[in-house]
Amino acid sequence: MTTPGMAEQLDLAQLASRTRGRSGRSIAMAGRHGQPFRVTSATVAVGTPPTRSDTVQIAIDVAQEEELLARYRLWFWGILLATSVLFPVVGHRIARHGIRPVEEIAATARRITSTNLRERIAPEGYPSELALLAGTFNEMLERLEESFERISRFTADIAHDLRTPVNNIRGEAEVALARARTGDEYRDVLESSLEEAVRLSELIGDLLFLARAESPLTEWHREKVNIGELLITVRDYYEASAADAGISLVVNDGAEPLSAELDRSLMLRAVSNLVSNAIVHTPPGGTVTLGASNEDAAIQIEVSDTGDGIPTEALPRVFDRFFRVDPSRSQTSGGTGLGLAIVQSILTLHGGSAEIASQLGRGTCVTLRMPAVATR
Ligand SMILES: Nc1ncnc2c1ncn2[C@@H]1O[C@H](COP(=O)(O)OP(=O)(O)OP(=O)(O)O)[C@@H](O)[C@H]1O
Ligand SMILES: [Mg+2]
Repeated sequence: MTTPGMAEQLDLAQLASRTRGRSGRSIAMAGRHGQPFRVTSATVAVGTPPTRSDTVQIAIDVAQEEELLARYRLWFWGILLATSVLFPVVGHRIARHGIRPVEEIAATARRITSTNLRERIAPEGYPSELALLAGTFNEMLERLEESFERISRFTADIAHDLRTPVNNIRGEAEVALARARTGDEYRDVLESSLEEAVRLSELIGDLLFLARAESPLTEWHREKVNIGELLITVRDYYEASAADAGISLVVNDGAEPLSAELDRSLMLRAVSNLVSNAIVHTPPGGTVTLGASNEDAAIQIEVSDTGDGIPTEALPRVFDRFFRVDPSRSQTSGGTGLGLAIVQSILTLHGGSAEIASQLGRGTCVTLRMPAVATR
């Protein structure tokens, strides 16, 4: 039996030969007009109970499926080809876009020199991790710019303060040499030159001290120091000049003796700087008080006066190098504005801090706070 019209589509003899012995397998075969077929055969038992067996041969025209597959294949290769070209390009662009902020940061870093610290990175549109990096970088630049500015201001101040005494010495020498002088006149000139030279060497000494205090390699000598004795040493040293100025200088000794691990000569210098300031800025009849106290493991030394006080707006700057509230007045009294800067760096070396409180016309109080036991 054959399905009607099957013989026109397929060579039945070929169908029989191709499927013989391959029962149950799907085999590709071309039809009479070249159409693709899938053919298969099966042996079945016929009759109940079965009396004989027959062979069933089936062929399906798979032209449509083949066409569909061919189309899929075309799409597949087309898309594969397109993506293999497109993906590297897109990937490259994405990577470049991601790296752009890093390149900008690098370019900014390359542009920066000591004279060009104004540069900042604009982190708009950066991914959050890089915005953080850019922000940190900008903060670093901010700090660098600030320190560079401070250094250049400091250098300018040094130059100015060194020039004045040198010019004075030079001017006096030139005037003295302009014509013949008596021995007394020469002596006067030499005396005033010596005064200027002393001032110069003090200034240079202060600058060297500050530079040394900032160096992390500097070693300081720590020992157990009795604070009360230290204050009395300072008082003894300044007693005469305080008396000359009509100021009483008192040490307010606490009930119990206080001691701390300090560099004795440095702390003497710090307290002396405070007392010399207090004496200069206190009118006759005033009092300068030295006191010490302890609080937990911290020692406090206080130097207070009943003097002129400092205007509130100037207070935050008094610890700056070369800062003077009234430069014209300090010029005559010889102050360079390094005293409190030195106090602060001495306290920093001791792991402590210096604070100042003042009321105009009523007085000033400077508090030095430091750990009683050396921490480093
Ligand atoms: N006890 C004080 N009373 C009033 N003003 C003060 C007092 N201590 C400091 N000042 C002000 O603070 C400024 C800075 O003080 P600092 O000791 O650093 O410098 P200086 O005394 O001018 O100079 P130097 O101490 O280097 O000789 C002083 O010029 C002064 O105007
Ligand atoms: Mg001073």
